[in-house]
Amino acid sequence: MKFFIDTANLEEIKQANDLGILDGVTTNPSLMAKEGIAGESNIQQHYVNICNIVGGDVSAEVISTDYEGIIREGEVLAALHKNIVVKVPMIADGIRAIKYFSSKGIRTNCTLIFSPGQALLAAKAGATYISPFVGRLDDVSTSGVDLIAQIKAIFNNYTFDTQILAASVRHPMHVIDCAMIGADVMTGPLSAIMALAKHPLTDNGLEKFLADYAKLNS
Ligand code: E4P
Repeated sequence: MKFFIDTANLEEIKQANDLGILDGVTTNPSLMAKEGIAGESNIQQHYVNICNIVGGDVSAEVISTDYEGIIREGEVLAALHKNIVVKVPMIADGIRAIKYFSSKGIRTNCTLIFSPGQALLAAKAGATYISPFVGRLDDVSTSGVDLIAQIKAIFNNYTFDTQILAASVRHPMHVIDCAMIGADVMTGPLSAIMALAKHPLTDNGLEKFLADYAKLNS
């Protein structure tokens, strides 16, 4: 399972990257705004800065919603760095754009996926990644993890190259559940990644080992 971090915060990206387990970064316009990044050239520079920290794929989202605009924006984003993946919303013009990008060798991440049908359409259009939003479905009393399972079952029937990127992951059990289903990638905040490392028995056990060592070695 690839681990992406879902943030535009350079410090958090560095922290996750320093662990040695980071495979990429996802961003969205809300995450960029949270960091106070505004203006086309600043936004583009920020994507380059992220690419200079992490070795893997970096999703950069278009804000256009019409076909021509998505193509124009996506081509500029893709040219910024070889690791940029153009993030395109799941709308009709987005599907058309994904098909176009796919024919040009530009990699895409189809975002805002909330149903198996949307995932199927994006895969048929040739998306590199599809991003079903696990946490946001849970927020409206629908199982996000069940959606990952449905998409996985559908993709298992065919030979799509599209990778399932479990997005809107909020906590460690989302990561475990998605890994058990076989999602190719998960993206979540640093807190969800770090929480995977924590167990009270690990902390207690280490404390005892160090105390026993100190008894005879101090
Ligand atoms: C996906 O790529 C999105 O950036 C993200 O995972 C959304 O997460 P949220 O629902 O926690 O905002």
